[in-house]
Amino acid sequence: EKIIFNGEIVEKSEVNIDIEDRGYQFGDGIYEVIRVYNGHLFTKDEHIQRLYESAEKISIRIPFSKKDLMQRLEELVETNQLDTGIIYLQITRGTYTRQHGFPSEEIIPTYVAYTREMPIPQVSMDNGVKGLLVEDIRWLRCDIKSLNLLGNILAKQQAAEAGCYEAIQHRGEEITEGSSSNVFIVKDNCVITRPATNLILNGITRQVILKLCKENGIEYKEQIFTVNDLKQADEVFISSTTSEVMPIVQINELQINSGTPGKITKKLQNLFKREIE
Ligand code: PDD
Repeated sequence: EKIIFNGEIVEKSEVNIDIEDRGYQFGDGIYEVIRVYNGHLFTKDEHIQRLYESAEKISIRIPFSKKDLMQRLEELVETNQLDTGIIYLQITRGTYTRQHGFPSEEIIPTYVAYTREMPIPQVSMDNGVKGLLVEDIRWLRCDIKSLNLLGNILAKQQAAEAGCYEAIQHRGEEITEGSSSNVFIVKDNCVITRPATNLILNGITRQVILKLCKENGIEYKEQIFTVNDLKQADEVFISSTTSEVMPIVQINELQINSGTPGKITKKLQNLFKREIE
């Protein structure tokens, strides 16, 4: 199996990461997950753009051009003959003697990317899944796709232990986002998702869904909504690179839309399907 290590395609077993890599010690880095459908990278420009923006926000200078990075990723998908799956890539600040502040001299970021087969979660998408409300205890820069995911991990684990697919996080009354997804509700035929501020990651799938609403005359707004709005919604769904448009049919003990995926959710699933073909 081949992976990308610092810009070169190499055998996975040949790669060694230093124990003083700042990604390992501090979670000092950023990442992306890109969907691959039929060997093609979906919304690759948007993911690469977000990667560079995340890097910029924490003052990591990526030593490759977007074009080079992209070409190499496409080469990796071809080399590994990936049909349907994902690319995971992460860039850390690099390796340096442990100190909290940035390294005292210029160092080279550590860049790793690999591919993984992953089918579309069709059964879950057809039947819908459960969500668990969890208090959002994360930091105030959730707009950065940082490797620091402890808050997200603890939320997801809590959901999993309750037999749920996703944790639906809220800061007090306001719904923020899932542990690894964005949250949407539908009320009176209007699709609502919160504005992309520092409190959530502006999901690429989220942006595709809003574009699809716009292009297809589906009413939508970016507006803050509450736990109560969520409970009283006609439909609820989450979105992410790996889960696409995923209906939420139960939240804690409460059924949404009698426990079935709603009609606008299904419409968006179909529009999304057309988008990836
Ligand atoms: N997670 N919010 C959070 C906190 C996320 O981690 C993700 C994605 C999203 C959705 O973003 P996008 O539509 O660009 O995938 C929102 C990825 C898939 C992951 O960590 O595996």
